[in-house]
Amino acid sequence: MTGGQALCRPEEIPENGARGFPPPPGGDYGLVVLRRGGEVRAYLNSCPHLGLPLESLPDRFLDREGRHLVCTAHGARFRVEDGFCVSGPCAGDSLERVELRLEGGVLVLAADAQG
Ligand code: FES
Repeated sequence: MTGGQALCRPEEIPENGARGFPPPPGGDYGLVVLRRGGEVRAYLNSCPHLGLPLESLPDRFLDREGRHLVCTAHGARFRVEDGFCVSGPCAGDSLERVELRLEGGVLVLAADAQG
């Protein structure tokens, strides 16, 4: 997959929330993008357990407290700040981080995102 694809403006990701994006052209996986304290992070939307998407409803990635991303398939929980799995069948593994950059006020996939 090529980098450079525009996603959205940072303010279109809800603060303390998450938003899903479909697989970019040539990509196998969608993305989950989170914003916290004005900082934006992105991960591949692929659980390290079986490679399934995390959410079962659009943009519903987080637990009630907003502390963890939750995989609805088997309940794995991941820290928002680094994608580390703290419980569930893939405890100790991590979501794959995807680098974004800001171009003209728009979040853009960095080159080589998703390899
Ligand atoms: S696929 Fe995510 S916990 Fe099993």
